[in-house]
Amino acid sequence: MGRTQTVLALESSCDDTAAAVLRKNASGETQILSSIVRGQDSLHAAYGGVVPEIAARAHAEILDLCVEEALDVAQTPLQDIDAIAVTAGPGLIGGVVSGVMCAKGLALATGKPLYGINHLAGHALTPRLTDNVPFPYLMLLVSGGHCQFLLVKGPDDFKRIGGTIDDAPGEAFDKIARLLALPQPGGPSVEQAAQRGYTKRFSLPRPLLDRTGCDMSFSGLKTAVLRARDGLVRDQGGLYPQDQADLSAGFQAAVVDVLAEKTSRAMHQYHQLSPSTATLCVAGGVAANMAIRARLETVARDNGAGFVAPPLALCTDNAAMIGFAALERMADHPPDDLTLAARPRWPLDAKSPAMLGSGKKGAKA
Ligand code: KG4
Ligand code: ZN
Repeated sequence: MGRTQTVLALESSCDDTAAAVLRKNASGETQILSSIVRGQDSLHAAYGGVVPEIAARAHAEILDLCVEEALDVAQTPLQDIDAIAVTAGPGLIGGVVSGVMCAKGLALATGKPLYGINHLAGHALTPRLTDNVPFPYLMLLVSGGHCQFLLVKGPDDFKRIGGTIDDAPGEAFDKIARLLALPQPGGPSVEQAAQRGYTKRFSLPRPLLDRTGCDMSFSGLKTAVLRARDGLVRDQGGLYPQDQADLSAGFQAAVVDVLAEKTSRAMHQYHQLSPSTATLCVAGGVAANMAIRARLETVARDNGAGFVAPPLALCTDNAAMIGFAALERMADHPPDDLTLAARPRWPLDAKSPAMLGSGKKGAKA
């Protein structure tokens, strides 16, 4: 039996400013006492994407307010916190620096230990926070800046077995929304438009299915949607709502097909580890997409595995996942000191070769 541990966690690597308080009790169960997330969509809306300088300034302005609110909601005074956790990368460097500086200030002022956490580890370990999934499990991490398959063997043991060689799916959803004049963030608006759409009206590619392995590519698909749109604009003089719906549906169906086929291949590699309870997990903002979730659940079932997708609030960026990753790490790692650096790139699996490309929302690591 361990002792009760309470962490305060900060997250500011992209366009959400977040703070959370988590408590792990003596029998190892973790509870989220508070999770505050302040998005910045309205600040970036006019620019059609996240502007790093605006994001960094907004984080610096409200991080301390988020921390205050997280402590208030958790009814936990700062002196009762055992450790401070913060996303130290990968991500937009200005935002990561804002979070790391705030966390260092808190650690210095209180004398509490400081833990720099990899944002991707936060996403990848979330299924253990929500569903206590045993190691090893297969994780498909899909967000605005990342897309990779990970064999998660321990809190600090990740093997990447594939990923995107260009755009991340969330980034592609955002770009498709922009070229169809749908609101940002693109994922939810494309998903909504797709519900009224006919998937087969346009013939769109399923990139890299002819290549063995689990690597993916989404930029050619994006270009194909752009060409189809331009064709419609040329022929009709503009886009009708049904065109937006059909292009959204066609694009989403192509993403679903690619993710399903590549996940099925990743499952075969995962089974070679002979897990006692096979589990496919999905995390990251794109995991909020119902069509993607439903199809991945079928892939898991067809491959004799369970399926875990965290609740939406824990799929998108949040600080609870950072606090949980810190609690997993604290068991057998010393804290960081005040030289902790903010890292724009920080691969989870340093042994695998780096992925190509880098998303607008951060490193694909
Ligand atoms: O994990 P996240 O909050 O931030 C990153 O680390 O990137 O993911 C945000 C991304 C955005 O690109 C957004 O468009 C996408 O997740 N997203 C979705 C949906 N909800 C959010 N993509 C597809 N369908 C959705 N319903
Ligand atoms: Zn993320």
